Amino acid sequence: MKLLKICGGRTLGGTVRISGAKNSAVALIPAAILCDENVKLLNVPNISDIDNLAIILRYLNAKVEKISQDSLYIASCNIENKEITEDMTRKLRASYYFMGALLGKYKKAVVSFPGGCTIGSRPIDLHLKGFEALGANVEYDGNKVIITAEELNGNNIYLDIASVGATVNIMLAAVKAKGTTIIENAAREPEIVNIAMFLNSMGAKITGAGTNTIKIKGVNYLKKCTHEVIPDRIEAATYIMIGAALCDNLVVENIIPEHMEALIRKLKEMGVNIEVTDDKVYVNNKNKLKAVKVRTLVYPGFPTDMQQIMATLMTQAKGVSEIEETIFENRFQNLYELQKMGAKVKIVGNKGYITGPTKLKSDNITATDLRAGASLVLAALIADGETTINNADYILRGYENMQEKLTRLGAKIELIQI
Ligand code: UD1
Repeated sequence: MKLLKICGGRTLGGTVRISGAKNSAVALIPAAILCDENVKLLNVPNISDIDNLAIILRYLNAKVEKISQDSLYIASCNIENKEITEDMTRKLRASYYFMGALLGKYKKAVVSFPGGCTIGSRPIDLHLKGFEALGANVEYDGNKVIITAEELNGNNIYLDIASVGATVNIMLAAVKAKGTTIIENAAREPEIVNIAMFLNSMGAKITGAGTNTIKIKGVNYLKKCTHEVIPDRIEAATYIMIGAALCDNLVVENIIPEHMEALIRKLKEMGVNIEVTDDKVYVNNKNKLKAVKVRTLVYPGFPTDMQQIMATLMTQAKGVSEIEETIFENRFQNLYELQKMGAKVKIVGNKGYITGPTKLKSDNITATDLRAGASLVLAALIADGETTINNADYILRGYENMQEKLTRLGAKIELIQI
């Protein structure tokens, strides 16, 4: 296990560069299996989720090489379509993308149920129903899902929930199917557009990504391409909120502001001093913050992935703030840790109420999931004295070089392996 020790209460500032998006890269890497030649991925974040996907690809006999600090070469022409067992899939949620990718290319995938953050029950029924609609047969053997098809045929698929994972997985399965697949009530997250663009640059015929209707005309062959991962809007949001709480002047660079409109609007409503340009955000802590209400929604609404970090910022805002979590049932675990640090918090059903401003106290706390971890990092940076965050491994799953980036901004932070 890794620990983060943070001496908080310092004013921070400077420039931070945002890395490639975890949720985009973790789909692009399994999607590379569909390529009949080889791909180069640029702006790939250096995080443990990527390392774990590379382990699975190499196990399948794909060639995966780091060609620079942030770029990967993947050749999947000689893949052996083997069973991907629980010891590999439980390390990350995105292991479920091997289902769609292997099914799409080989008409067979044997993959255990995915792991990932325990923020709710997180079923994958919509993914599997989508595969069945394309003509696949889905069977279970313990924790193992066996998906096979004689052939895959395009179909009209309506998603009961605009699920990110199901939308991507169905795209992956449909890209080489016969005929046309239409996904209705598709998720519209920017990461989905990034993945569709990747597949299209290999020769796929996908239109409508970024809207709620995606059309996929099946093709037989996918050629080589080079593709860039979009900037991570959740990492960017994390640093922007660190800036709003603690920085006399922070520049967050390499962002796509349109991907972050819901957050930027909410921060302005809170009174945060923030200025947005083409690819940068300037933010500081000069203004006093006001309480706000946040309701998590699918894109372009306020992302569930940002609400836990927002909860910490709310502890510094005057009045009673409210978070309504509508996507996952169990995404308030960070609030209990914040409570230990002195935050005034109440949870009623899917709503969290946070009364501020509160002077947070340092403590020994535990990250229960990735974004809860980020929420606690912000709290530890705010609190006077030394805070220890246990289970920091969660944070490393999704934040590239967080320790180095924060140190450069003036934080005192140490990562310890125990
Ligand atoms: C992805 C992101 C995660 C983000 C979430 C919502 C990745 C690897 N993870 O997770 O960071 O928080 O989107 O933006 O990209 N659902 C079902 N059945 C299904 C699929 C989903 O009921 O088959 C439900 C889920 O339980 C959840 C909701 O739909 O309540 C949305 O989930 P989904 O968009 O699929 O999230 P993930 O793909 O797991």
